[in-house]
Amino acid sequence: MALENINPTQTQAWVKLQNHFHEIKDKTLRSLFEDPNRFEKFHLNVHNIWLDYSKNRIDETTMKLLEELANECQLKDAIERQFSGDAINQTENRPVLHAALRNRDNRPIYVDGKDVMPDVNRVLQQMKSFSGKVISGEWKGFSGKEITDVVNIGIGGSDLGPVMVSEALKHYKTRLNVHFVSNIDGTHLVETLNKLNPETTLFIIASKTFTTQETMTNAHSARNWFLENEGKENAISKHFVAISTNAEEVQKFGIDTHNMFQFWDWVGGRYSLWSAIGLSIVLAIGFENFEELLEGAFQMDNHFRNEDFSENMPVIMALLGIWYSNFFETESHAILPYEQYLHRFPAYLQQADMESNGKSVDRNGQKIDYQTGPIIWGEPGTNGQHAFYQLIHQGTKLIPCDFLAAANSLNPIGDHHAKLLSNFFAQTEALAFGKTLEEAENELRSKEKSEEEIQKLAPFKVFEGNKPSNSILYDKLTPKTLGSLIALYEHKIFVQGVIWNIFSFDQWGVELGKELANKILPELENQETNSSNDSSTNGFINVYKQLRQS
Ligand code: F6P
Repeated sequence: MALENINPTQTQAWVKLQNHFHEIKDKTLRSLFEDPNRFEKFHLNVHNIWLDYSKNRIDETTMKLLEELANECQLKDAIERQFSGDAINQTENRPVLHAALRNRDNRPIYVDGKDVMPDVNRVLQQMKSFSGKVISGEWKGFSGKEITDVVNIGIGGSDLGPVMVSEALKHYKTRLNVHFVSNIDGTHLVETLNKLNPETTLFIIASKTFTTQETMTNAHSARNWFLENEGKENAISKHFVAISTNAEEVQKFGIDTHNMFQFWDWVGGRYSLWSAIGLSIVLAIGFENFEELLEGAFQMDNHFRNEDFSENMPVIMALLGIWYSNFFETESHAILPYEQYLHRFPAYLQQADMESNGKSVDRNGQKIDYQTGPIIWGEPGTNGQHAFYQLIHQGTKLIPCDFLAAANSLNPIGDHHAKLLSNFFAQTEALAFGKTLEEAENELRSKEKSEEEIQKLAPFKVFEGNKPSNSILYDKLTPKTLGSLIALYEHKIFVQGVIWNIFSFDQWGVELGKELANKILPELENQETNSSNDSSTNGFINVYKQLRQS
């Protein structure tokens, strides 16, 4: 059954939130923190992932009204529909069942009357057995040598999740070196292959559709490289495996379907790292660690599905995001992991969030007149502090931030971790409470500046504060913790899509560019002056042709 079609701006809660916004918008976090119990009221602990959301511009009424909004938008019903396999991705007529891939208690989940769990478990077993052979060295290349390097060729969801997780869990690495090639820019493939020996390299061609231009181009070039470097046609099966929903295209490419790892159209590309798309992760960290990753996600799934909204971490994070996007009219949201291992987490979330909720037509097919998905961006701390934090602290834009950190480092050396964490805490404090003019003046006075200098400099040293942030703290970055963190954000995105009354699981907005690129490609190959496009595109195609000839 379809999700309810409710315009959030027409709900009673929305009107109440608008009125409430006018009451609270000028309140400072300094004044809100006069309540000594604020942290107690606005923090959560879910399976040892701690969320402090007290440094947000909210009070108890805000949270109550946001929950009312969730209730009026029938969020509970939407969650149940997702978990029970309803075709809630209506524009593609598909269920949204990434949660089935980590459904560790094997509760039956039905799609068209068939329980999907036996298939899920079958593919997991296939991944376990294959990865075991490759990691142990039992799987040999064409010349009898062990595989040392794995190259995952994929893009978007068939790349970003596996890269992010493999980087995040490097601490748990197997003996294999896992590389990722995504860009159609030949440099990506060439620079990767330059370091590799075809005798000991295994390619994973990861593509849900097996038709994506970038992936198929890279896959064909990788095969050519393999064949040009002593690899034989009959050895392809030892060096190429495929992950796809499209067995026919896999066969056309020349990969035996015995070497194919299946997944299903109810797994969205950007939600697919839990599926066979995670094979590169399994090879990178081992099957047991991959199971732990699934376990962590499963814990978060259960929390999300069963907990009251007032204690529900993904729901609260989603509602806070709506509060800023739709009432404070913020445009972006920064993801700031104080964890080097999570350096690709912001990039991963860019696709997860922006491809899901970057929509402007509601579930009724009508153009909408309120804000939906934010721009997601970020970098690890403390690096970001020396780059763009200036703008967050003193620029003209309000940017809600998520800070993430581990209490314990996987690489404890000296006092690095204490220093890292002191910055993690200090930044959220500085953002929330800032520095007043009076404080800036006093500070300059204590440095024995003249009154004239103080008056001149003090305005530049003022930090307005009142910049909202969430802080997420966990014990250490284990596969299980990472699984929970990813699922936390997946569910946050889902909740926001439900409330914004949009379809979060299609991505029609990526199609037009692809179509036009296919039209332009032959125009680049011929010698004629281009005239079939607009004057800008024609003009620049012609400049490009001149440059290519010279
Ligand atoms: O960018 C569009 C998109 O369809 C993504 O949603 C998807 O993750 C990516 O392309 C790759 O698609 P595929 O796995 O089919 O190659």
